[in-house]
Amino acid sequence: MLRAILLFTLLSASVWSQVLLPTPTQVTPQAGSFTYGNGVKWVMEGIPQQDGGFLQQQIRSAFTGKSSADAGNKNTIRLTVSPASAVTQDYRLRIGLTEISIESRTLAGVFHGIQTLRQWVPLGSDQAAACEITDSPRFGWRGLMLDSSRHIQSVEEIKTYLDQMALYKFNVFHWHLTDDQGWRIEIKSRPKLTEVGAWRVPREGIWWFRPGPQPGEKPTYGGFYTQEQIKDIVAYAAQRHISVVPEIDVPGHSLAILAAYPELSTGGGPFQVNPGSKFYGSIENTLDPSNPETFVFLDDVFREVAALFPNEFIHMGGDECPKNFWAKDPDCQALMKKEGLNNPGELQSWFVKRVEKIIHSHGKKLMGWDEILEGGLAESATVMSWRGKAGGIAAAKMGRQVVMSPSPAYYLDLYQGHPEIEPATYGMARLKDTYQFDPTLPADVDAKLLLGIQANLWTEEIPTFRHLQYMTWPRAFAVAEEAWSAKADQKDWPAFVKKVEAQFPRFDAMGWNYARSLYDPAVSFSADKKSIVLTPEIDGLQIHYTFDDAEPDASYPVYQGPLPIPQGASHLRTRTYRDGKPIGRLTLITIANIAKDKRTP
Ligand code: ACM
Repeated sequence: MLRAILLFTLLSASVWSQVLLPTPTQVTPQAGSFTYGNGVKWVMEGIPQQDGGFLQQQIRSAFTGKSSADAGNKNTIRLTVSPASAVTQDYRLRIGLTEISIESRTLAGVFHGIQTLRQWVPLGSDQAAACEITDSPRFGWRGLMLDSSRHIQSVEEIKTYLDQMALYKFNVFHWHLTDDQGWRIEIKSRPKLTEVGAWRVPREGIWWFRPGPQPGEKPTYGGFYTQEQIKDIVAYAAQRHISVVPEIDVPGHSLAILAAYPELSTGGGPFQVNPGSKFYGSIENTLDPSNPETFVFLDDVFREVAALFPNEFIHMGGDECPKNFWAKDPDCQALMKKEGLNNPGELQSWFVKRVEKIIHSHGKKLMGWDEILEGGLAESATVMSWRGKAGGIAAAKMGRQVVMSPSPAYYLDLYQGHPEIEPATYGMARLKDTYQFDPTLPADVDAKLLLGIQANLWTEEIPTFRHLQYMTWPRAFAVAEEAWSAKADQKDWPAFVKKVEAQFPRFDAMGWNYARSLYDPAVSFSADKKSIVLTPEIDGLQIHYTFDDAEPDASYPVYQGPLPIPQGASHLRTRTYRDGKPIGRLTLITIANIAKDKRTP
């Protein structure tokens, strides 16, 4: 009997080791289990006073069973931070029959060990199967970028996002705080940025096709974060061992600045914050590099930003600057002549180098999107590669540090399923695309220049926090796995899917949202366009379908291969089942739209 119990717990430990996400370096299941009760003895060694209560609360939240009221239980939970520890990995988590211990040389390591424990304990249980786990991250930069300009989130929503990130060991929150659609950070020396630049006219509907501001219309949609709120968020993130990197996007993406301070443009304005209507290249959204006041302004902004964010980097954006306004401006032409700049690309590079000096003068390093390579890269700049990997590779070949956050694989704003059944957006990055992507540098480049990886969530089409979570998860799980553990030669899609599915009940229990698009098939035409091809993203699903507009239940035919399109059929409905139960959404596919992006009207 005892043997049977031991065998059972050993088996369950090995099952649990399959659901940890990101995958730890080494998991050794052992026999038996630890039981949590409210009488548990806490031993805190080397834990700063202000963190003790928070870490205890994090651990308590792992045990959601009924026996937690058992005050007779005298088991121990020990957290140890010791710079001289024999544990050379990021952390070691040991679960014995009477003691859980998490040891590390750093507080961050102990925090990471706690996140592993929170996943190791089954939902609804007070038992932790015995094991020893040692673990270290693959990359030092494990980032998510959130765009708070196109749509703003509340402080509480940002904190929930940070909670979600922490559970999967993300450690960089790249915060896109300014753009054409709204300026979101209080700058005390430049009050019009938030009085004017934080507000636009309200609009719904598909991005880029929204009507622009009408004459006399009041800009009522928007908001901003006060410096006190920003300090609160930075501290909340820091407690979760996440560092916040602010992005102030210049010289393009600056329409919100120009709405507030039109004198910083070449054209003079007036300008309005853009509500999501088409303007790029036709309404100016660039700062004037020939105006010395532009750099006085940037010095004010970066001084206040540098004081708010402890991270060593300030991200200056630098992407997608339409240089046509510079090309036709006499003052920019004169500046180019004076400085010996041959083209607007070199003028942009000149601008970035000025910004680099300002950022350095406030004790920070400059990071920018890969356009900062154009016309010559500033001396110390770190490049964030988004137009594929090319910019990152080029920068690394110059010996510069890079972060890989390439589109489409790491762009969380793209479709994750068939456009007709997903909220409107553009492009495509299914969970499997994100998971399979290899972000590494080529073999002839020093691998150490790759600081790490990041996924980006642009919010043009994301008005609510529910939807924001839907776009983030589960694709960010794939990025977390890549950032912490996975290597190209160790990828195992079915094993990863199992880990992903194990997170869903946890999200449900927390009231967090996520997409279930992995249960719906990709839909495409055969090469001759005479048949429809359904491609399930994961194994073990049966796709039931019909062309007759009824709701396909399990008695409808199962997809076996390309479906010839019946004469006269306009729609296909599908629903996936697993083990006889519906698991995917009921889809309605308009055959005429199969090859279309829903964002295109
Ligand atoms: C970007 O997506 N424009 C960085």
